Amino acid sequence: MKNKIKVAPSILAGDFGRLADEAKRCEDAGADLLHLDVMDGHFVPNLTMGPKAIAAINRATNLFLDVHIMVYNPFNYIERLIESGADRIVFHFEATEDVEETLQYIQKCNVEAGLAFCPETSNEFIPKFLTKADYLLLMTVHPGFGGQAFKYDVLKKIEFTRKLIDEQRIRYKGQIVSQDKIQNIPPYEIGVDGGITDETGALCVEAGANVLIAGTYLFTQPNLSKGIEKMRAIECPK
Ligand code: DX5
Ligand code: ZN
Repeated sequence: MKNKIKVAPSILAGDFGRLADEAKRCEDAGADLLHLDVMDGHFVPNLTMGPKAIAAINRATNLFLDVHIMVYNPFNYIERLIESGADRIVFHFEATEDVEETLQYIQKCNVEAGLAFCPETSNEFIPKFLTKADYLLLMTVHPGFGGQAFKYDVLKKIEFTRKLIDEQRIRYKGQIVSQDKIQNIPPYEIGVDGGITDETGALCVEAGANVLIAGTYLFTQPNLSKGIEKMRAIECPK
């Protein structure tokens, strides 16, 4: 199956007084999915939205809701996030001792389980989870705030991760998929989040990312739809 770039506006950069309208606007502008940031004021020094706001967004759009939780003890929030309409829950490797248990529980609830890594977390922790997580999110800024500068050194981590996926067996919908069957399934998704623009996004895609999450860049475009299209048009190496 041909690899293709997915573009996920991060609503953190939208108007918080009109979250439901902003979600609808992203859908109408052709977003592939919508990225929602949940912060707890502990794992990161900021507060954003919780299950009630996510439920309101879910009522306003049919977009796939990619919920990125920057919270300690992510396990405790899974049920409420799923009730609110999360289609994928992405939690941080650095936020819990129970990474595998949390991934498994999310998958048991029939929701995609994603694992996020902060920029400074070593590559050595990634291989173990390739066959366990449905999606990997490589942070290209330290999580907590929108509008930060892209960290170029994460490009190496993206390359490392894509290479591992290409070399190893991967998991898709709960199944381990061997290399010879990989072309029959959608490409394994590697997301990047933080400081993503059309330019830094192109570098990430070249390194192997295929989900581009962008807040500030997209929400400051004069035309959201054209901004999304520009990012999606980035040439994928495969
Ligand atoms: C930051 C969040 C991001 C944020 C990205 O911790 O996880 O999703 O919205 O914002 P920009 O695109 O402005 O860097
Ligand atoms: Zn995020």
